Amino acid sequence: MEQVKKVTLRQLFRMKRRSEKIVWVVLYDWPTAMLADQAGIDMILVGDSVAMTMLGLPSTLPITMDVMLHHAQAVVRGVKRAFVVGDMPFMSYVTAEDAIKNAGELLRVGCDAVKLEGGESVAPIVKAVVSAGIPVIGHLGLTPQSVSLLGGYHVQGRTADAALKILTDAQALEAAGAFGVLLENIPTEVAKTIAENTSFLTFSIGGGPDTAGQLLLSHDVLGLTLGLKPVFAKSYANIAEQIKSAFQAYEREVRSGQYPSEEYLSHMRDGEYEKLLKRLDN
Ligand code: KIV
Repeated sequence: MEQVKKVTLRQLFRMKRRSEKIVWVVLYDWPTAMLADQAGIDMILVGDSVAMTMLGLPSTLPITMDVMLHHAQAVVRGVKRAFVVGDMPFMSYVTAEDAIKNAGELLRVGCDAVKLEGGESVAPIVKAVVSAGIPVIGHLGLTPQSVSLLGGYHVQGRTADAALKILTDAQALEAAGAFGVLLENIPTEVAKTIAENTSFLTFSIGGGPDTAGQLLLSHDVLGLTLGLKPVFAKSYANIAEQIKSAFQAYEREVRSGQYPSEEYLSHMRDGEYEKLLKRLDN
């Protein structure tokens, strides 16, 4: 059997140098991870968006390290090739000590790197985690853990001042040793400016095409988003419709007696049922 080679940071930087796009997806479980890996996806994020997509919570804030570790373990079991990033949940990286400990837990269960939100203000934390030997990617623009501060899930960086702040934040992350930054829901021009004025890996989720790679949530890709779907989120299937119609067909067949039909039954050995009936008669 052919040995599958794991994607490494070196390989990701090589892809950037060769202008080969890096494909990144957010997912949370073993079967989806296995299928994405087999499909050739380069990177997987075990995101704290699990709160909203899988657990029906209104924001990412209730997610704890325990939840992240639970999902990270499942994802890692399904992956042979992709580079797996574990999301650091809200309040898990307030101090450098906490950050190193919690990032270490994500690596211990098999993640290859961690992601955390923020720019200049978290640069010392990023530096400490990287110094502990843990690869870190930053997250700027619409940072869901600051949804209260941002006043909702809106496009960020629409003015020159705001764009400059995001650029300064990205440069601070790079100087702190982050291997890249995820740019969420910002204007295309701003993402392009950041890609052109930094040397690390830039990724876009709703920031246009000018970054080294793209990220989408698997729920959006698969058409399984039941809540709000952002404008930038493209769906390549309508799994929600398929799931619903499968449940409807099952419901119909059970009620009508069509399921379980002969092909789904097992039977006693020849003559054993008759023996059983006889014994019950005695
Ligand atoms: O948790 C997540 O899925 C994320 C994306 C929204 C970028 O951080």
